[in-house]
Amino acid sequence: MVLYGAYRDSSKTKVAYQPLQSLENNEPVENPLARKLGPITIDSPAVLAPLAGWTDTAMRRISRKYGAGLVFSEMLSGEGARRKNEKTRKMAAFDSAERPYFIQYFATNPEQAADAAKLLRDVNPDGLDLNFGCPVKKIILNQGGAALLKDVSLLARIVEAAVKAVDIPVSVKMRSGWDHRSLNAVEVARAIEGAGAAWVTVHARTRSEFFQGRAHWEWIGEVKSAVNIPVIGNGDVRNAEDVKRLLDMTGCDAVMIGRGAMGYPFIFREIDYLLRHGEACTAPTPYERLEAAEQHLLWMVDYFPDPHRATLEFRKHLLTYVKGLHGCAKFKSRAMQLMNPEEVIAEMRVFFGSLPNIPIERPHDALESAPVWC
Ligand SMILES: Cc1cc2nc3c(=O)[nH]c(=O)nc-3n(C[C@H](O)[C@H](O)[C@H](O)COP(=O)(O)O)c2cc1C
Repeated sequence: MVLYGAYRDSSKTKVAYQPLQSLENNEPVENPLARKLGPITIDSPAVLAPLAGWTDTAMRRISRKYGAGLVFSEMLSGEGARRKNEKTRKMAAFDSAERPYFIQYFATNPEQAADAAKLLRDVNPDGLDLNFGCPVKKIILNQGGAALLKDVSLLARIVEAAVKAVDIPVSVKMRSGWDHRSLNAVEVARAIEGAGAAWVTVHARTRSEFFQGRAHWEWIGEVKSAVNIPVIGNGDVRNAEDVKRLLDMTGCDAVMIGRGAMGYPFIFREIDYLLRHGEACTAPTPYERLEAAEQHLLWMVDYFPDPHRATLEFRKHLLTYVKGLHGCAKFKSRAMQLMNPEEVIAEMRVFFGSLPNIPIERPHDALESAPVWC
């Protein structure tokens, strides 16, 4: 087994990535990547998407550590919040290192939206985000998520109720319409703006598309030209070059990344580097991947008091950290047997330690089979 200490020495080969340094006299450094999203300022235009079952506090922290400008909770139930459901409260909890942090929730009527907003406000996030994009049948049958794209007036009243209920910004995440026959992203975004939302995130797909096909980035540009609030573009952003292309093509204010960040928080530093320097930075070495995966696991253990539960929750993340690397298929079957954090760490050290410690690009197809939400 490769020892951690010995392995650490080989990190000398990694190419230094320089995050923003503060000046000796403590004057604030002007950050060319900072963006204003309504009342909040984010230090990178690349933000982590809400991902049910994934973006718990550990994934949000690791994403922030590597440069995500903003993070969101998994989608919570407005009704759950309103009923002071213990699970909802626990899912909303966060570590201050995650800030800026927005809690995402869905609501099906204005009263529920306002009551939930007040209760979620007590958790002390930087803002709230309303979901009008969820395509899942259970939510749609409940008239939530993307179902509200079919009732723009109700959608606007829900947003307005949440905005009026709290003294923190309320943003919205939406799809571009129910289906291709009813593309109404511009109409919905204008209604959202009129209802007082701080910004709107556009996932450039319809509900009917779920996650199929390519996202239609031109729909993000259409919304950006139609409203005055900031617009975050989302859908199929897989690497730093995609971020640049989406920003250039649509003029959107920021870019949201979901599947591209699973097991690869490095995407955020790659974006930062490309936008600052106009060229790509070096891919992470196996040692850097190990370092990130171990940190992710330790934050998972912080969150779940039961180490066995933390291990089970971490397994799916672990598979994404090793995806596409030489020998990952064999590792995968061993990983699924791991029962406690110590075993996970030992196996990870063996696996990553067996690889040459040189930068390894993420294979282009690594995202093709990323888990989808439908
Ligand atoms: C596993 C998974 C869970 C998701 N959960 C949520 C969610 O809770 N709230 C939400 O607004 N979108 C959710 N989405 C959609 C993503 O936020 C994002 O809009 C979508 O994945 C497109 O971005 P991407 O191509 O960068 O992944 C989820 C997507 C996936 C794959």
